[in-house]
Amino acid sequence: MMDKIVINGGNSLKGTVYISGAKNAVLPILAASILASDEVILSNVPRLLDVFAKTKLLCNIGANVESNENILKIRIGNLDLTELANDFYARQIRTSVLMLGALVHRQKEVKMPLPGGCTIGERGVDLHILALSNFGIKIDIINGCFKATAGKLHACDTVLSFPSVGATENAIITASVVEGTSFIRNAAKEPEIVDLANFLNSMGAEISGAGTNIIEINGVRELNGTKYAIMPDRIETGTYMVMAAATGGDLLIKNTDLQLLESVVSALIRMGVCVRETKEGVRVSSSDCLLSTDIITAVYPGFPTDMQPIITTLLSVAKGESTIEETIFKNRFDHVPELIKMGAKIKIKRNTLHITGVNKLHAGVVNSNDIRTGASLLIAGLIANGTTTVTNANQIFRGYEEPIGKLVAVGARVD
Ligand code: UD1
Repeated sequence: MMDKIVINGGNSLKGTVYISGAKNAVLPILAASILASDEVILSNVPRLLDVFAKTKLLCNIGANVESNENILKIRIGNLDLTELANDFYARQIRTSVLMLGALVHRQKEVKMPLPGGCTIGERGVDLHILALSNFGIKIDIINGCFKATAGKLHACDTVLSFPSVGATENAIITASVVEGTSFIRNAAKEPEIVDLANFLNSMGAEISGAGTNIIEINGVRELNGTKYAIMPDRIETGTYMVMAAATGGDLLIKNTDLQLLESVVSALIRMGVCVRETKEGVRVSSSDCLLSTDIITAVYPGFPTDMQPIITTLLSVAKGESTIEETIFKNRFDHVPELIKMGAKIKIKRNTLHITGVNKLHAGVVNSNDIRTGASLLIAGLIANGTTTVTNANQIFRGYEEPIGKLVAVGARVD
């Protein structure tokens, strides 16, 4: 745990980076593992503060979790949910809400705090509640807590008004053990949803259509244990691609899948960054001059909102005027005042950033309010000459495995 990261900027990053398992895949998978009747063994699990918090939460409700390097072994025995409403970890992470469907399946009444997570603007729970209610789960919100009660659950056909990633995951997990055939329409198509469905199917679930906007789930009576490897983190991959480009570096990025990042690759190519898929991995190098471009965040396969703060830093030092329209979390701009402190020229007009590229950013003391703001400021520190301090750095460790070790290995001066 570290409360600050200090960066001596100016070095080009050169060498090899190994990508970890995806945070946004492992967190819903840990929620789904509550349904397993036998041991679940997960590999390629990233060692992140958010994963630590989620495993602590599982232990607090009675699960047995063994952790060894990037492997987690989980056994769900008799659950004890008496203290869940006051659980520190349940309050801390947003994906605790994904445990509701699985928990009411096992115990008919559950009280759990409303979720925490990144403070990246309005984060409603109405679609989660709608998705769960459709199965016959009654949800009340009392004194900052969910109270979920269920009798016999039934299969259902849910149409989401917006393809929420979390609500889609909640519905998939719940439907997997509810008798009958359920459908989720206007479902989110993010790759992490496919990973969740593949995980559940490896336990004996019958889920088809994940990765499209209609998901069909035939509920099964019981889910077995399984061994499953978590997919690579596409946002971590994108972050190191931007780091290579921002520092005039040349990185070979291994253990990842470029297919998951088409919109990001296309933005980088428009900016003049060289991205090549080679036998050994993805090679990213940057030209002398970065070009401006316009970006709109969107649901998958569009440009990911989680990459928005990260690409903002790169566009801050690109030649000319760029815009970024944020359509998912409409005021996710906590990184902007911090980048301005470091010399960036950015104006916020409603949900759009107007960026005028500058030649150089200067070092400073900046604060990381959430995971991706932290990454955006880390990149700014790598570009700026001099010593930059990013405070509240624990936010970065919530979502990036060993960022300091990985950066030092490719020539950054960070500690
Ligand atoms: C997940 C990711 C997060 C990413 C986001 C969008 C995880 C752990 N987190 O978050 O990193 O930024 O997808 O790709 O996987 N909404 C509602 N009501 C709801 C649910 C969502 O209005 O009940 C709104 C949110 O306020 C937001 C939008 O829908 O404006 C997208 O949210 P959602 O897709 O649910 O994101 P998360 O699952 O929270």
